Amino acid sequence: MDVLVVGGTGFVGQYLCRELDDRDHEVTALSRNPHDADLPTGVTRKEGDVTDYDSIEGAFEGQDAVFFLPALTPLFKPDGGDEMHEVVHLGGTENAVRAAEEHGVSRYVQMSALGADPNGPTHYLRAKGKAEKAVERSDLDWTIFRPSIVFGEGDEFVYFTKRLKQIFAPGVPLYPLPGGGRKAHFQLIWVEDLAPILADSLESDEHVGQIYEVGGPEVLSLREATELVYESEGESITIVPLPMELAKVGLPVLGSLGFPMGSDQYEGLDFDNTPRDNDVDAFGYDVSEFRTFGDYLGVR
Ligand SMILES: NC(=O)c1ccc[n+]([C@@H]2O[C@H](COP(=O)([O-])OP(=O)(O)OC[C@H]3O[C@@H](n4cnc5c(N)ncnc54)[C@H](OP(=O)(O)O)[C@@H]3O)[C@@H](O)[C@H]2O)c1
Repeated sequence: MDVLVVGGTGFVGQYLCRELDDRDHEVTALSRNPHDADLPTGVTRKEGDVTDYDSIEGAFEGQDAVFFLPALTPLFKPDGGDEMHEVVHLGGTENAVRAAEEHGVSRYVQMSALGADPNGPTHYLRAKGKAEKAVERSDLDWTIFRPSIVFGEGDEFVYFTKRLKQIFAPGVPLYPLPGGGRKAHFQLIWVEDLAPILADSLESDEHVGQIYEVGGPEVLSLREATELVYESEGESITIVPLPMELAKVGLPVLGSLGFPMGSDQYEGLDFDNTPRDNDVDAFGYDVSEFRTFGDYLGVR
């Protein structure tokens, strides 16, 4: 198949492009700056910005399938403010759906996120939820994925756990985490377990019209995940609880002063990021065989 991976130069996108290329698909990766990405030589690179329809629509011509992966991270406040989530996630999706329809690309796979909901608690989740609705309303043969946090070479999650410490307690072995990091739980999935699932979704019509929530083999709190990261580096830290109420008041104030976290990031630490039912079995996988975060870090 000819497959267009919009956002194919990002963290997940690069693994997906490699997986599709290994399966002998003709792959095109599209992003704003595609030329420095580490992609197989067989992958064509195209430049375009999903917020600008005219810059992307030509890349859809002749494709059999499209993956949509562009993202702004929910972990930090985006440049341009929280409203940028709507611009990129919703506006970008609307442009990609329109281009796919106009160029007759019937198969369309959307990367969403757990908790995506037009009425959700953060700008990110609302924009992801509205983008899902735009996909569902389309005439395309769509599939939607909602993964938990993804880890692997090049991920942002390990960086995030370190950045939080730099923000809250630079230079000391204490790590004040909102709620002691016990509130939110994650079911982290290894990018090399996720990429084959995404590629598999093209291989059977039974995945059309489905929303899949996917995660890894274990549920970890932010505290447990953070401890694993530091253990893997031989560093000893003591996590101390920062009261959630204090974080709820403090982060929005700091965010308004240019700090990289605000009320959305507080909300993100206040609810779980775990699938209702882990749908990896819909693709014939046994999640107990997937890689754990600790194994990846070399500490279990
Ligand atoms: N990583 C996770 O833990 C995780 C968890 C749940 C859901 N997801 C979802 O999975 C998808 C992939 O995530 P990721 O971690 O791979 O993200 P990422 O590393 O930030 O990659 C994003 C990709 O989109 C491109 N992009 C961003 N803005 C664009 C724009 N305006 N126009 C065109 N391309 C644009 C980027 O390239 P340029 O900057 O060159 O344009 C890059 O190729 C996203 O939808 C994300 O929400 C990720």
